[in-house]
Amino acid sequence: MSGFEARWLDLREPADIAARDTGLLEAAAAYLLAKPHALAVDLGCGTGSTLRTLGPLVPGLHWRLVDNDPALLAEAERRRPAGSSVETVLADLGDLDALELRPARLATASALFDLASRNFVAGLARRLSRERIGLYAALSYDGTIAFDVPHPQDAAMVALFNAHQRGDKGLGPALGPDAGAVLAEELAAKGFDVRTAPSPWRLDASMPGLQTKFVEGIAAAVRETGELTEAAIAGWLDARLGVVASSGCRVGHLDVLALPR
Ligand SMILES: C[S@@+](CC[C@H](N)C(=O)[O-])C[C@H]1O[C@@H](n2cnc3c(N)ncnc32)[C@H](O)[C@@H]1O
Repeated sequence: MSGFEARWLDLREPADIAARDTGLLEAAAAYLLAKPHALAVDLGCGTGSTLRTLGPLVPGLHWRLVDNDPALLAEAERRRPAGSSVETVLADLGDLDALELRPARLATASALFDLASRNFVAGLARRLSRERIGLYAALSYDGTIAFDVPHPQDAAMVALFNAHQRGDKGLGPALGPDAGAVLAEELAAKGFDVRTAPSPWRLDASMPGLQTKFVEGIAAAVRETGELTEAAIAGWLDARLGVVASSGCRVGHLDVLALPR
């Protein structure tokens, strides 16, 4: 188990789809369409959200879905669209040298790189450059959260949540909120043509389930830092849970598309 449940990924998928930058998504599809029957390798695929979003734009595309969580991979396999060409690979991305990328035209990922370290991103950029493979990386959290209804503890909670995001999630000290910018920097340094675009979640009162899980996740992460009293955290969480059905929030992300020149 990776700690990511299919239930959580399902809850966030509609918000992710709405948030992805359309221009970069379409540019990724156009790049794939330029080579018939291309291969896309989705890193940290979960249940296959990127396949479901990008796949319909690129008929005939082959997919290799990679994850280290067998339960999520099995779910991705079970949900694969009828008639699609999909292989699943159980692998730890941390072993970058062993990762089979060839003969991909594009590597893809969503909500992955904020879990990864600068070392991992630099190593992947080297591999992609050597093998002339592009990267479409959607939805890296950028550290910004703005609630429609402010609370005096918001700034402290978000700062501690962001600090927690930088802990090791299995791929070295995580980049957390810096992931999108570091990805863009490392890939540009390798000569890729890099485009970035904001892809914020805009959660509203129609998504109380996702908002509830999200603020509970923030509170749990802050608790683990040990930097705020339980009373302060519980007070903030109660106030937040009290408004999930009547207000919303904006959560910043960055999409990155890096194509070989
Ligand atoms: C936040 S989820 C995103 C899943 C999917 N891309 C999506 O957008 O719904 C992160 C995914 O990365 C996978 N993952 C995390 N660390 C990994 C590692 N070291 N090797 C392979 N997969 C990993 C998790 O199992 C999970 O499926």
